[in-house]
Amino acid sequence: MGNYLVTGGTGQIGTFLCEELVNGGHNVVCYDFKPNMDNISRIPKRLTVEAADVTDTSDLLQVIRKNSIDHIVHLAALVLLDSMKHPAKAYQVNIIGTNNVMEAARLLDVKKVVFASSVSVYGALKPKREGIADEDDIPNPPSDPYSTSKIADELMGKYYREAYGMDINCMRITAAWGPGRYWGYTGRFNDFVRMASLGEDAVFPADFAYKGEKLRWMYVRDVGYCFSYVSELPRTKGYLYNLGLDSPFNHRDVTEALRDILPEGRLELKELDEPTKMSSTVAGPNGLDVDCTRLYDELGFRPRFDLRRALRDMVEFERRKAGLPPI
Ligand SMILES: NC(=O)c1ccc[n+]([C@@H]2O[C@H](COP(=O)([O-])OP(=O)(O)OC[C@H]3O[C@@H](n4cnc5c(N)ncnc54)[C@H](O)[C@@H]3O)[C@@H](O)[C@H]2O)c1
Repeated sequence: MGNYLVTGGTGQIGTFLCEELVNGGHNVVCYDFKPNMDNISRIPKRLTVEAADVTDTSDLLQVIRKNSIDHIVHLAALVLLDSMKHPAKAYQVNIIGTNNVMEAARLLDVKKVVFASSVSVYGALKPKREGIADEDDIPNPPSDPYSTSKIADELMGKYYREAYGMDINCMRITAAWGPGRYWGYTGRFNDFVRMASLGEDAVFPADFAYKGEKLRWMYVRDVGYCFSYVSELPRTKGYLYNLGLDSPFNHRDVTEALRDILPEGRLELKELDEPTKMSSTVAGPNGLDVDCTRLYDELGFRPRFDLRRALRDMVEFERRKAGLPPI
């Protein structure tokens, strides 16, 4: 069994990853500067929580040493909209924080590091293959602090892997959707499903209603599972893998499935002929497809949830949380 450090462990993905790891019998230290204890209250007590900051090198070294950490999953970051609001903080946490994790792992001989990047790095890329980007395409990130810090992290991890022979994987996430975060960019999608689950008026967010979109977003439980799965693999052939479903869905698939699950649901969807300004440089919502086949063919990963099963799971989750009867 491994001794895991999960940075950003009480965030949306971190919560489900910690649950997966604890259920798999691992020792888990959840390292988060503002631990959201509500988010992890459902996880059995075998989880250790350290309220600490990835920008603090000495705290990071001390926690890794004290807990004999052999695996790190690094998720702590300021996400897209927060990064745009607080750029200086975003560069610090997302770049310096990631460098601290790499250095600490190098100095203390941590066996494996897996960390999160984002397809936001693709930006306005013209892929080699018409309409679909893969890991060999050279990203063309927009200048926002989130995308630029993620591309810096990707290159940093590659350097540490090559220069020091460290076992590092970077997962370039399409998006993780599901319970846990109802604000921010993709958080609005989660809020839409939450409102529908509770029987309230649910308006599908315009950012994800473009006719030509191709969403390979993965259900957050499966994203947690995927990080756990990759962290247990022996050194992989590749360094960086796109993380998403093996086939895309769109807003119509979501609303149709939700209408079947919640026949009384009050859903509203207005399809758009063009992506919104915000979504125009985001692969998936803007119509640029993202090839995720390497995750399946090379790493052998298989998600546990298809779209319908995932929507049903989230509906039940939200209803349970709100004290409503199951559907
Ligand atoms: N959720 C998505 O759709 C998505 C898509 C692409 C990439 N990612 C990446 O996945 C990772 C996790 O995303 P998430 O959706 O769970 O985000 P989140 O915002 O829900 O969680 C991030 C967590 O990091 C913590 N954190 C922030 N700064 C910290 C610091 N300085 N030290 C310690 N902890 C700190 C926060 O308290 C929070 O709990 C991030 O790196 C994000 O960029 C997420």
